[in-house]
Amino acid sequence: MKVLVTGGAGYIGSHTVVLLIDAGYEVVVFDNFSNASKESIRRVEAIVGKEIVVVEGDIRSREDLAKVFSSYKIDAVIHFAGLKAVGESVEQPLRYYDNNVNGSVVLCEVMSEYNCKSIIFSSSATVYGDPHTTPILENFPLSATNPYGRSKLMVEEILRDVYVSDNEWKIVLLRYFNPVGAHKSGSIGEDPNGLPNNLMPFIAQTAVGKREYLSVFGNNYDTVDGTGVRDYIHVVDLAQGHLNALDRIRNFNEPMTINLGTGNGYSVLEMVEAFEKASAKKVPYTIAERRVGDIATCFADPSYAKEVLDWEATRGIDEMCEDTWRWQSQNPNGYII
Ligand code: NAD
Ligand code: WQD
Repeated sequence: MKVLVTGGAGYIGSHTVVLLIDAGYEVVVFDNFSNASKESIRRVEAIVGKEIVVVEGDIRSREDLAKVFSSYKIDAVIHFAGLKAVGESVEQPLRYYDNNVNGSVVLCEVMSEYNCKSIIFSSSATVYGDPHTTPILENFPLSATNPYGRSKLMVEEILRDVYVSDNEWKIVLLRYFNPVGAHKSGSIGEDPNGLPNNLMPFIAQTAVGKREYLSVFGNNYDTVDGTGVRDYIHVVDLAQGHLNALDRIRNFNEPMTINLGTGNGYSVLEMVEAFEKASAKKVPYTIAERRVGDIATCFADPSYAKEVLDWEATRGIDEMCEDTWRWQSQNPNGYII
């Protein structure tokens, strides 16, 4: 089976490519390298011991995509390509809608032209907005508080419409909670551009000495210690969820919407403590104002993924921190070597 992985050079994509190749899938990576380094591909090649087919192109370009679909008989697409910075999306909404929504529309059009109608889409827990209760089930009300989140909601709806128009489509919408961690080798991992937006890379860069201290965004939430609670999920568990989905996609007779989370929530301070233990480094922090748009608590009910994908996360918080630390300490400046 030949799988096109859009955004396959990125953080989650690169880890998924490793598992796909190890499981015997033929993989074509498609990426415009707007938020990835070619070094990540070389590292993946070193891990799997094989050369990877990579096509540099943009999902908004019919020509770029047509080149891929005419050169390779693609059976299914795992669609990671997209922009993902919430704050940036508020400042540049049109860029986000163009890249994430228009790009997904063009991708589906070209897929349809080449009669490739199986897609796994990277959605996000952000589509639940500020949930009334936790754990979060797939049928909870949806809302978006920023253009990034709205772009994910829009693509989910577009894909459901595509299915209504043509029932041959096989569609899986995976809603990720908070991906962290890295491959066991420590040679691939998350490599944010500039100041990290997300907690885990910020903690890791503080532990390695690149940042002086972590700003904890608020300590007066209604949580165990006042700091925000999230469902951190190891990126390799997340990647495995895609393989399980791919394996079953032919059997799904309607679009499937599935949470990928662990079901456990940890506070910011609990993450700091776990990371200090894993790295044997201090992570100095200061309490700062709440970040606009943040919610107190967010964690998944992952039982539907267990039921329909036979998938559950197996890696705990200690392993998430140890693997992040291995990547960060071996690559203090990310892929820039
Ligand atoms: P990433 O930025 O590391 O990977 C995205 C990849 O897509 C990058 O390699 C980038 O160069 C590529 N890309 C972006 N726009 C493109 C375009 N127009 N054409 C071709 N390639 C393009 O991000 P990630 O963390 O690996 O996330 C992958 C997907 O998962 C994204 O869609 C993201 O929105 C979604 N997601 C991520 C998180 C998270 O916290 N990391 C959580 C939920 C959902
Ligand atoms: C986690 C917790 C912060 C940074 C975001 C997106 C979401 C999804 C994942 C893609 C919160 C706190 C953080 C820092 C802190 N991405 N924090 N200091 O906000 O759950 O989700 O990334 O889909 O759409 O919104 O993740 O890692 O940014 O924050 O105190 O420097 O850490 O307040 O409680 P979040 P995060």
